[in-house]
Parts: sequence; C-alpha cells; structure tokens
Amino acid sequence: MKPISLDEHRQRRRSLLRLMAPGAVAVVPGALSVRRNGDVDYPFRQDSDFWYLTGFGESGATLVLRRGKDGDASDAAILFCQQRNAKDELYNGERLGPERAAEALGLDSAHPASALDDRLPPLVGAASAIHCALGEDAAFDQRLSGWLAKAQNQRLRPSGEIRGLKPLLHELRLFKSSAEVELMRRAAAITVEGHLQAQRRCAPGGREADLEAELLYAFLRGGARSSAYPSIVASGANACVLHYTANAAPLKAGDLVLIDAGCEVGHYAADLTRTFPVSGRFSPAQAALYEIVLEAQRQAIAACQPGAAFEAADEAALKVMVAGLERLGIDPSPTANDTAGEDDDANGDAQRPALCPHRTSHWLGLDVHDCSAAQPGDEPRALAPGMALTVEPGIYIPPQHEAAAAKWRGIGVRIEDDVLITADGPEVLTEGAPKDIAEIERVMAASRG
Ligand code: GLY
Ligand code: MN
Ligand code: MN
Repeated sequence: MKPISLDEHRQRRRSLLRLMAPGAVAVVPGALSVRRNGDVDYPFRQDSDFWYLTGFGESGATLVLRRGKDGDASDAAILFCQQRNAKDELYNGERLGPERAAEALGLDSAHPASALDDRLPPLVGAASAIHCALGEDAAFDQRLSGWLAKAQNQRLRPSGEIRGLKPLLHELRLFKSSAEVELMRRAAAITVEGHLQAQRRCAPGGREADLEAELLYAFLRGGARSSAYPSIVASGANACVLHYTANAAPLKAGDLVLIDAGCEVGHYAADLTRTFPVSGRFSPAQAALYEIVLEAQRQAIAACQPGAAFEAADEAALKVMVAGLERLGIDPSPTANDTAGEDDDANGDAQRPALCPHRTSHWLGLDVHDCSAAQPGDEPRALAPGMALTVEPGIYIPPQHEAAAAKWRGIGVRIEDDVLITADGPEVLTEGAPKDIAEIERVMAASRG
C-alpha cells in the first residue's frame, strides 16, 4: 500500500502554518514507548497528530513549527529525534537520527531530542503565540513551563499567548485526501474480510476468543499490522456492554454475537460492527430487533448527504429506533439516566433513551474516534465531501431490564459501517460485509456445507 508522500506531509505542515499568526510556534510531541510489564513495552503506535504532520514513526520525537514573520518562505519545520545508538539499533532496528532526518522527511532542520530543553526556550520565548495541547499530559505541561521560565531567565520576556493546537489540526484532518481515502478503503476491505471469516467460522461450542483470532488472522494476512482498537466479540448479553473486550465466554446456540472490530492500515482505521446468530439463524425476537436497527442504519446512512448536519444521521436513526421499539411494546426510555452513565464520552449522551445509549456517528481516520477537537459543538456541523464517519445505531436490552418482556432481555444489536461523504452522497466503505438477515444466514449456511 502506498504510504502518504513526503510532499503531502509537507503540504499539511504548510496548511497548519497558514492557520497560525506570524511569529507563532506550534509544538507537537510524538508518542513515547509505554511500559507494559517488566521490561516489555506495549507495541509502539505513533501519535496521530505527529504522524499526520511528519510520517515519522519513531518514539520520543517532537516537531516544532514556526510561522515566519515575512510570509511562507520564513516558516520553519524543526524536528527533535532520538540519536543513533549502535546497541539500541542492534536490539530494536535502525533509527533515522538527526543527521539524516531533515532530508529524509523534507524538514528544515533536525536536532537530537536531548537538545529540546536548550533550543525551545528562545523559540517559545520569542513566539507571538504558542500552539500546543496544554492540559493533556502533565509531563509536557511541566516541560513547557520550564522552557518559559528559562526564557524569562534569558530576559526574553515571553509574551505569546498559549493557544490550542488540536482545533486547527483536526480541522485539517477532517478532510481526507485521495491518498488517505485509499488507505481507508484498504483498511475497510481487510476488515470486511475479517468479519466474513468470523461469520463463516462461528459455531456453538466455540469461544468468543476463537472469533477474535479469526479477525486478527485476516487483518495480519491482509496486510494490516494491528487492529485499530481492541476487538469486541460479545455474545449473548455481553453485547449490552458497549466496549466489552474480555472475549472469554463460550458461544451458545440461540445467542447473537456482536463483533465490533477493525484493522489499521498506514495508521488509518476501519471500524465495523456486525451482529449475527451463533447458530446461523436469527430467532423471531432477535430478527425483530435487528430489523429495527438495520432500518435505522439505512435511514441514517441516507441522511449523510453533503450539506446535511452531522447530527442528521443520529436524528434519523433515533426516530426509527424509538418508533420500532414502541411498535414491539418496549418502552425505549423507562429508566433514562439510570443506565446511561455519567461519563459522557464522544459516543455517549445521558439524555438519550436508555436502550439506545450512544450516538450514531463519530469521525473516522487516523484515530478510530477521529478529530475529537473538531467534533460539532453548539453549531450544527455540515457534512462535506472528504469527511469520513461511522454510522452505528444500536439497541441494547440489558438482562436486568424488567420493563421489557423476558424474550427481549439480553439482546444487544449494533450495525456499524464506515461512510465517506462524496459530492454524490454517502459512499459506504465497508459495504462488502453482509447485513441483511437473509444474506448473513446464507453466508453462515454456506460455510457449514
Ligand atoms: N469501536 C468503537 C466504536 O464503534 O466507536
Ligand atoms: Mn466500532
Ligand atoms: Mn465506531
């Protein structure tokens, strides 16, 4: 798969610089390796903002952008990165090193990461504004205040206001280029294959983890290096735990299984959910709830038109789900706020019906919950070509939900696709994964011979 070109990374830095005032500086730290246990680290994943601007995959680096006072030609992109080290490279592979990084990445200059505390004080001290993600990482905040204190001592009288970085950057990341869309298409195609494989191999007597293994196998065989987030393989009532990842229960005939899993290609995520019967056939109660969620999803996808509000998909889905639940004699919101939880993350909202507790869409890209700083605020956000988002309505009837008849309890259904907004309307990147009941049953029956 073709990676994003040096030129595209350069264009992105230029676009960010143009959003900054003359003399402003942006400080973008890359990710650090994180200890898992003993002397073992978690697999390293570069910070998405840093990756977007550099395409540089090593840990412990920092990008500094300075907007010149005399137009684009006086802008500067400066990298701080780990020095080369024979012993580290023997164990962990080749490093680029500051000597080679500027040319290899198309930057103006590169320095050892250890030079940051000497080089940053004069830069931030003279800046008209400092763009950074203040308040997200205590170690970074402390370091920045150290640079500012040092600048004071150097009589630089730093006067630059500290401003957000993410609102600018995420506004750029919201619109995918054709090269980004290609990577997302690939991630979607591999993910679809993983879900199909899990459907084919699903059988009573197996375990949720067996299906997780099918997903991972397909992801890695397809060319991805990892999942974009921990796979959710939730059978039976486990599906009512929205981010269930234990994946340890046996697969029982008569249950549904909800799989929410996606791979990452070139740092771009896919995010796909399908819900299907362990034994290959939906029961009438499961089918009734499933058809409501499917219709909600169809109408929500149809609402993803250029010019429509981001919220239109959610409104369309909720309308179908609330009406559908009422038709089945299930009150959708008898205990609203009891089950919705207090933790309103990007996907949650305490004001919603308790049985449809999460929102229908989030942006998708380098992060599975992408562009969090560009999330619609009070103003309705209009969809436009190049944006990518998920459409993922769900109905979850917890086992203890006595307001619903026994046959509905413990059923959780979510159907999620990845949608690219085009001038002609929504394009579903994950449409290869079956979601009609008849089609799912056909796929599962075919694999049983
Ligand atoms: N996989 C998490 C989500 O669908 O938002
Ligand atoms: Mn998902
Ligand atoms: Mn999602």
